[in-house]
Amino acid sequence: MKIYYRVFYTLLVVSLLASCNKQPVKSTTDAKADSVLALMTLREKIGQLTLYTSDWDVTGPTMRKGYQTDIKNGDVGAIFNAIGAAYTRQLQQLAVENTRLKIPLLFGYDVIHGHRTIFPIPLAESCSWDLDMMQRSARIAAEEATAEGLHWTFAPMVDIARDPRWGRVMEGAGEDTYLGSKIAAARVKGFQGDDLSAVNTMLACVKHFAAYGAAQAGRDYHTVDMSDRVLRETYLPPYKAALDAGAATVMTSFNEIHGEPASGSHYLLTDILRKEWGFDGFVVTDYTSIMEMLYHGVVADTAAAAAMAINAGVDMDMQAGFFQDKLEQLVKAGKVSEARINEAAKRIIKLKFDLGLFDDPYKYCDTTREKTVVMNEKFLAEAKENAKRSIVLLKNENNILPLNKNTKTLAVIGPMANTRKDLIGAWSAAGDWKKAITLLEGIQQTVSPATKISFAKGSPIDADSTQYLAEAIAKAKQADAIVLAVGEASWMSGEAASRTSIQLPAIQRKLMEEIAKLNKPTVLVVMNGRPLDLSFEDKHFKAILETWFLGTQAGPAIAEVLFGDYNPSGKLTMTFPRSIGQIPIYYSMKNTGRPYESDPGNKYVSKYLDESNYPLYPFGHGLSYTTFAYTQVKLDKTSITSTDSIQVSCTVTNTGTRQGEEIVQLYVRDLVGSVTRPIKELKGFTKLDLKPGESREVTFQIKPADLRFYRKDMRFDYEAGEFEVYIGTNANTTNKAKFNLSVAE
Ligand code: GLC
Repeated sequence: MKIYYRVFYTLLVVSLLASCNKQPVKSTTDAKADSVLALMTLREKIGQLTLYTSDWDVTGPTMRKGYQTDIKNGDVGAIFNAIGAAYTRQLQQLAVENTRLKIPLLFGYDVIHGHRTIFPIPLAESCSWDLDMMQRSARIAAEEATAEGLHWTFAPMVDIARDPRWGRVMEGAGEDTYLGSKIAAARVKGFQGDDLSAVNTMLACVKHFAAYGAAQAGRDYHTVDMSDRVLRETYLPPYKAALDAGAATVMTSFNEIHGEPASGSHYLLTDILRKEWGFDGFVVTDYTSIMEMLYHGVVADTAAAAAMAINAGVDMDMQAGFFQDKLEQLVKAGKVSEARINEAAKRIIKLKFDLGLFDDPYKYCDTTREKTVVMNEKFLAEAKENAKRSIVLLKNENNILPLNKNTKTLAVIGPMANTRKDLIGAWSAAGDWKKAITLLEGIQQTVSPATKISFAKGSPIDADSTQYLAEAIAKAKQADAIVLAVGEASWMSGEAASRTSIQLPAIQRKLMEEIAKLNKPTVLVVMNGRPLDLSFEDKHFKAILETWFLGTQAGPAIAEVLFGDYNPSGKLTMTFPRSIGQIPIYYSMKNTGRPYESDPGNKYVSKYLDESNYPLYPFGHGLSYTTFAYTQVKLDKTSITSTDSIQVSCTVTNTGTRQGEEIVQLYVRDLVGSVTRPIKELKGFTKLDLKPGESREVTFQIKPADLRFYRKDMRFDYEAGEFEVYIGTNANTTNKAKFNLSVAE
């Protein structure tokens, strides 16, 4: 089959090029795509614009019977939720052996945080602030996914999110545009590598375009309504960063923006994506989004929905089947141009050439590679290192942590202490939770053999039952130290998992209350997919570890932090509120005309009657088992012009007794702008690894271009004026200096 296929396509391309009586152009995949397109019927082209789910996984509200028939008829160009070298080969054969032109299928899947070896959920991993590490985990995900027949991942999700009620915050990189943009680029590079024709690289798909994370009230799929300035300044940069890193495809979002569903927005999909940004890959909708335009109420029927989507700039219809049903007649009726169909089909076919699928449609269907690559020791080891660096030490009064490995009796209590299923979190796709190592197992592997470990579930995750409580209290009473593991079930975050409460379930609060009463050295381990309101926990416990859902190696990773084999270094990339009533709350807010800080005692300032303005744990917060000191921020000059840059530095010292890593953050404030400006904006960071007593000077360069924003005239540029620059350990830092930027008129 392989040889035949190669011969077939070579002859085809040569004959076509020869038929043009031209010197063969440089045989680029672009030219090859043109040559195939020239052979296709309208129906065959429309077939390439359709994506259906197989029935091997369910990631949306509808399934489709008979997608195999669609494949054989050439009415579908890509399949998602089909995995495995053997199964993808079977489906690929349907296409290659039954269709006239033998155009290979594209296989896509939600490889979000690992494929079989599951890494920490993306929000957790983002707390490592380690871009190389995040690129490596995407690389490993691509190694495993491509070994199982996949060409295309629906990742990275880069939606900026500032409302923890929204369950999909777990899937992104938190609240900050600058950090989110860096992480988006790293993940794209990890998935795509340097060469898409390599058998271990896959297409990335940056999603969800655009601003899906700003759903009103944190309710999934809800309305998004914001100024164009906020859209461009806060929400769009991570998508752009992903595309600048070479992301081959884009996925539209479910939400409306500027009054139009994203899948029907010519402004988003053509004006911005194509004309402003020059994107040349293809745009796929999210699951049945074209159909959903009927619910949005911008079209009255299927044909109108298909026309609005294709004319807005959608190239591929995921699962609605509206392109398959309506495009042919729309072209014949002159409502959609064949040129538009050609443009969409070519973008898709070109990427199939880029992947090498026309040379060998079965190159990813290698069962031998599948067996050797998936979940190998190296990948599992990387997953544990990644997990350790994703953990955030929220609190550690009296240095309860790290615990002593020789503790005589240790009680491991709580509904998350021995759970396996929840550890891999939401969007773990092909991950096998049965292969995850529990916290209890991790602790058993880590402490000394002499330590007596007791376990008690203590409570369900959310069911209202106290049947486990007495045993937990009894075992805790007998222990010298307690690890109390609480949290959300993995299904409580992810898609369609918004919550009106961001506290832990009441039944767990009862357990925590009873354990806290014992006044024993207790470490609270929290496993969750979103920032939670941990005010109760913060009041009752001296040591709190934020461990998110850390994936296959969760147990060993948490245990190595608990007992000091690894000194935690993670820092929050999303603000933890004191109460849900503060939402939205994030570090880069505006000052307002009546800032609380201007006159705290005054009634008439921006504040609450019943809560502080400030978060429980701010963006960038994360402690260590050692301590760090920062010197005053230093500048190499105090005024710059538009052709200068300014050097900002300070010295960080490990003032504790053990090695530790510190993520040093650089923030800037534009004191006066033609429009209001945030009180801080992250503009740089670096991670130091310091021995006890060791000092290191960190230096950042700030250029005027780093100070650009969407001015009153909506030009993206900087303005003259005063700036404050901060270097610190989290967004609350007051370690600052001032400089002036002057701009020649
Ligand atoms: C889902 C998600 C999207 C995912 C797609 C395919 O509804 O919104 O992120 O990639 O469908 O599973």
